[in-house]
Amino acid sequence: MNNILSIIEDIKWSSLKKVVSIRNLGTKRRGSGKSILNLETIIKLGPVPVIKNESEAYRRFYKLLGKNAYGIFPRTIYRKISPKQSLIAIEPVQGITFEQTVRGLIRGAYEYGQKSRSVEKIQKSIIRLSEEVLLKLRILHSGVNCTDPKKEMDLFLVEMSRGLSYSLKRSKIKSNFSAILRVGSDFMGTVSLAHRDLSLINIIVVNDSVTFIDPRHHVASSTQNQRGARFASPVIDLVAFNVALQRSEVEVQNIFPNLRLSARDYIEKEISYLLRQGVFSPAMVALSEAVVWAGYAACRCSNCLNSKNKFLRDFVFSKTKNCLDVLCALK
Ligand SMILES: Nc1ncnc2c1ncn2[C@@H]1O[C@H](COP(=O)(O)OP(=O)(O)O)[C@@H](O)[C@H]1O
Ligand SMILES: [Mg+2]
Repeated sequence: MNNILSIIEDIKWSSLKKVVSIRNLGTKRRGSGKSILNLETIIKLGPVPVIKNESEAYRRFYKLLGKNAYGIFPRTIYRKISPKQSLIAIEPVQGITFEQTVRGLIRGAYEYGQKSRSVEKIQKSIIRLSEEVLLKLRILHSGVNCTDPKKEMDLFLVEMSRGLSYSLKRSKIKSNFSAILRVGSDFMGTVSLAHRDLSLINIIVVNDSVTFIDPRHHVASSTQNQRGARFASPVIDLVAFNVALQRSEVEVQNIFPNLRLSARDYIEKEISYLLRQGVFSPAMVALSEAVVWAGYAACRCSNCLNSKNKFLRDFVFSKTKNCLDVLCALK
């Protein structure tokens, strides 16, 4: 802790102004010359390449979306603090993760019953928040002026193939899927900026609003500082959000088999609408689903490996294999 405080002193608080929430505690006592301030920020500290990469993933949005980015992401400041270490200070968002909001559904069903008004209210609030996520995604995915979309899409396909191969290797899932997908008209569509890791723990909920955190440079990376394509297909974020909700729904249904996450219908409607508009192709949806499910299959966090969650792991593996079958049938 002292270590962190000295680091913060070194980089001067004033430069962190935008990413620190400052609460003045109490009024200045006359004559004492004192003020009592409560300063709060999120600090991510680590090896230079890892932290720098995270900071740059945020910075791309500020640069390309201008002021719009501040309604979607928190502000950040990057500082190198020693030859090997650096930090990123992130404006704190005073809320809970989207995942915690969904867990509220389980609590509500336990306390008041699956068909209670409380559960209905939570369902409605998850729908409202999901619509808010879709709205922010529309802003995030808009307005990219790119001179050679085909080239950018080809680069994104390489990133997706690499991400998928890496996750399959880590999860020891065998597949005929070849490392580099045949680049062709099957995958054509719009390219845009994308978050690339829109899971429920990377969305912070404050009342009726949402903030995205922790964007990435690469869909699923073998090293944390790996870079991917400059632009992506917007469907990767819609699918990531939908898959995350589906995964949470399985957790809910493990306890309450008849309880659905009705918000999922809205995401699926948005995906169908954008498919009809030609923003992305069915093949790109299939590839995105494979990448995201395989990413969960490759996860080795204590939660995923816990034997109590075997039902979830089995579900994730079976989904990944289904997606791979769909992908292989495309070729
Ligand atoms: N700006 C923020 N405001 C509030 N909570 C945050 C913020 N940034 C991170 N967190 C919390 O810390 C967790 C991990 O942060 P994240 O940047 O997603 O790191 P990781 O690289 O470990 O995924 C988040 O899921 C969230 O709970
Ligand atoms: Mg995260």
